[in-house]
Amino acid sequence: MADTTDKTSETTAAGSTATVKEPFYDIAKWATKAPEGEKLISTAYGDKVTEDLRYVKNEPGVHKPDPILVADNVTRRFGGMTAVDVRHFEIERHGITALIGPNGAGKTTFFNLMTGFDTPNTGTWQFDGKDMAHVNPEKVARGGMVRTFQLTKVMSRLTVLDNMMLGAQSHPGEGMFRSLFPGAWKKQEKENREKAEALLDRFLLYKKKDDYAGALSGGQRKLLEMARALMCDPKLVMLDEPMAGVNPALKQSLLDHIISLREDGTTVLFVEHDINMVRHIADWVTVMAEGKIVAEGQPKTVMDDPAVVDAYLGAHANIDLGDDSVLEGLEGGNA
Ligand SMILES: Nc1ncnc2c1ncn2[C@@H]1O[C@H](COP(=O)(O)OP(=O)(O)OP(=O)(O)O)[C@@H](O)[C@H]1O
Ligand SMILES: [Mg+2]
Repeated sequence: MADTTDKTSETTAAGSTATVKEPFYDIAKWATKAPEGEKLISTAYGDKVTEDLRYVKNEPGVHKPDPILVADNVTRRFGGMTAVDVRHFEIERHGITALIGPNGAGKTTFFNLMTGFDTPNTGTWQFDGKDMAHVNPEKVARGGMVRTFQLTKVMSRLTVLDNMMLGAQSHPGEGMFRSLFPGAWKKQEKENREKAEALLDRFLLYKKKDDYAGALSGGQRKLLEMARALMCDPKLVMLDEPMAGVNPALKQSLLDHIISLREDGTTVLFVEHDINMVRHIADWVTVMAEGKIVAEGQPKTVMDDPAVVDAYLGAHANIDLGDDSVLEGLEGGNA
């Protein structure tokens, strides 16, 4: 009889002191609670996304099986120029989506709009089922949608660790009333510090934690911004050119970090001009030009499409995108 008892209820019945085990199949909870410093090897989310996107048509504005962000008729005009004109756009939950397109296509402006840093002329969008139009950036971040900036915005006069602490959500000691009870927030601060240190370790910045952020190289600032974005456990991270200015030696680890975000259950949207990176880590590619979504689909299909290559990838148009060795040689040559 005992053999038929379900494991969770067995532990509960054992007494109040026993810890109730998380069900093994609940991978999201299990994944985010992985012991500090332990690398999680799971392809569960990657496999789910591959399966979900397998039969989605390669066409602009196409519906996805499980979207985390859905945007409709989002426009932003600057004077007479329309910077963003997105009719319909969805991001598949748990996937790594690349947003590519030439300079001035409207990619950063679109990020600004989705995350509340700018206000559109028209448009609605839902993040994780909630309306996000007219919501300020702090609330957007608290809702689980966090972005990094093309030009990094680290606080130069603060230490690396203090920059990380600023990324933590709603510090309980910040309220006037609650600040009178240090016991309540000291525990939280300790947890935030431990989390910050673990993330800095993961992003190879632990040794720099007491240095001023202003003393970091451009690439290290990019890493710090990404690490800081993860302090509030976002559901969706939006990375605006995470590779720009990153030393080639760090690029591989940055790619690994982004893949590990997906393994942890975080959805990633990134803007990137580095075609090599897009080809290697994206589950889905969306192409923007003159404010519009002009193509989207599986990376191989989109990036091998001569029309996309010619029209939207500009300087990269003459590269044989099917030949990895050419791309690797090119990347080394630029370094
Ligand atoms: N605050 C602003 N005022 C006026 N024009 C702007 C403003 N912000 C962006 N633009 C214009 O909107 C267009 C889209 O710019 P955006 O920065 O979004 O492009 P992008 O795709 O991110 O380009 P890049 O790849 O160079 O970063 C450009 O023509 C840009 O000059
Ligand atoms: Mg930009």
